[in-house]
Amino acid sequence: MKPYEKHVFVCSLGNNCTERGSAGHYDLLLKALDEKVTGPARKAIKVTQTQCVGACGFGPNVVVYPEGVWYYGVGPQDIPEIVEEHLMRGRIVSRLLFHQYGETLPDEVVRDRVCGMVFHVSEAKASFQHEGRLYYFCNEGCLTAFREAPAEFLKPHGAHKGHGAH
Ligand code: FES
Repeated sequence: MKPYEKHVFVCSLGNNCTERGSAGHYDLLLKALDEKVTGPARKAIKVTQTQCVGACGFGPNVVVYPEGVWYYGVGPQDIPEIVEEHLMRGRIVSRLLFHQYGETLPDEVVRDRVCGMVFHVSEAKASFQHEGRLYYFCNEGCLTAFREAPAEFLKPHGAHKGHGAH
């Protein structure tokens, strides 16, 4: 058996994600994939429905490896785009991107250094220049927290408080 090129985990069994409408996501993704991808290319993509992947507050979540891409707030209408853009063309759907392993985010996707939220730069609610670099924030509260103690939020990943700061 050849190794899979991509493995997709769909949180369609976790309580929080299903409460947000993910119960049908696994079947929808499989259906879209089976309709659009055939032969060896289809066999190279594994799809697994899973219990909670640990990011309930942002669900429904869909995770794609080996890229380590975490999509959040995925609605049924987003499934075909994930299949066509990511699984078929290898292009990350940045508007749904919550996190990517290694922090190698596309240029237009930014992370709020206070709460950790990832969003498209066009959706930033505030920005702040600090030591020659522009930082973006999801709301004024995060901007205020950052302005008061930027060093606290510029520590290496994991050394400061993350999600839930607002
Ligand atoms: S229930 Fe889906 S991430 Fe927790």
